Amino acid sequence: MATSRDARGRLVLGGVALEEVAALAGTPTYVYDLGAVRAGVREITAAFGGDPHLVAYAVKANSAGPVVRAVAAEGAGADVVSGPELALALGAGISPDRIVYSGVAKTDAELDLAVAAQIRGVQIESVEEVERVAARARAASRRVKVAIRVNPEVDLETLATHQGIATGHDDAKFGVALSDFGRAFSAVLAQPELELVGLTTHVGSQFTQIEPYVVAARRLFELAAEVASRAPLSYLDTGGGFGIDYGQGCPVAPADFVRAVRAERDRAGFGGMTLVCEPGRSLVASHGVLLSRVVQRKVSGERRWLMIDAGMNDLVRPAMYQARHRIVPVEPPAAPSVGQRVVGPVCESSDDFGSCALPERGFELVAILDAGAYGYTMASAYNGRALPAEVFVEDGKVAFVRPRAAASAWVEERLAAGRA
Ligand code: LLP
Repeated sequence: MATSRDARGRLVLGGVALEEVAALAGTPTYVYDLGAVRAGVREITAAFGGDPHLVAYAVKANSAGPVVRAVAAEGAGADVVSGPELALALGAGISPDRIVYSGVAKTDAELDLAVAAQIRGVQIESVEEVERVAARARAASRRVKVAIRVNPEVDLETLATHQGIATGHDDAKFGVALSDFGRAFSAVLAQPELELVGLTTHVGSQFTQIEPYVVAARRLFELAAEVASRAPLSYLDTGGGFGIDYGQGCPVAPADFVRAVRAERDRAGFGGMTLVCEPGRSLVASHGVLLSRVVQRKVSGERRWLMIDAGMNDLVRPAMYQARHRIVPVEPPAAPSVGQRVVGPVCESSDDFGSCALPERGFELVAILDAGAYGYTMASAYNGRALPAEVFVEDGKVAFVRPRAAASAWVEERLAAGRA
């Protein structure tokens, strides 16, 4: 939670009063504090203590140009999962040797882009993908640097995160199974176009304990030790997943994960080896809010509904993962709080942000907190709703505004198909 209240009691993010942002850009609007995002990159970087490392920001968490450029300016690279994300990272000025590319089903066109850009590592996710990557390298008459993404097969109970965002267990589509690793390794070595430079894993997201991350890292380092004499690896990538406090607590910081992994690396005998991590959520979630206006209040029987102009199309996390985000009034709270069910306008019962204690009256704007990650990037135009605006604040000022599209733009776009 990165918001506070100013002397007048108004909700503030990054030194800017959110009611002023609403007056400027309307609602629903995502607001992000770029200065805080930058500080987060510096904190993770410092935790490496001068060791060779790459903080590869997982662009999928928040792909807004100002955000990607801000993390890049602090020295971060990028973890991308599609051709457009790769093009975005390059366009934001991230050098190719600081970009890693994961994905279970990269198309030939996407692989061609990665081969042409000569990125740090195409992270191969199956034995079968090896031949496809080699074929694209041959077509371009290039050698390509690859890493093997390993599925560390940590059991779901140890992972202890929402099943929808756990990736490193044996029923997940991601990575090469431990039992197939030998085959993937030999397949890569057999292709003269492929240069094996690393091993990688990503075990899941929103870990509020270090244990699952360290268990996965240990398995990765054990595999690296088995093959190190046959392939000179240049990096080991332990993925993203550092959790944040959505209000239920998170006793560990990103730096704690990094320090734990460094210790594991040293124990495995890889001191000096470049470590890569792929944080997404932890760099942006707490530094963004979704600003929304109250449209309708409704009291029916015992229930008090607060109907706002942001819906599941703008922020799908509650509907998709039963996630809870704190919701607070933007204006100074001026009445006793009562339980209210905050819901959006979308015609689905799951368009429900949950019950919150909010002042009985006296506010027209709310901020949905910790919405800087997987908010805008997962938004859709469902129900004919324009994608929300985005406002970027820095040093107590609004730095950029990306306005919301006009509702008529959606109507025009839908009607355009099939028109003579
Ligand atoms: N690396 C890879 C290969 C990934 O698949 C992901 C996230 C990350 C890094 C970054 O993980 P993070 O540090 O953000 O936990 N939409 C979900 C989260 C999905 C995460 C997908 N992969 C949510 O809103 O909770």
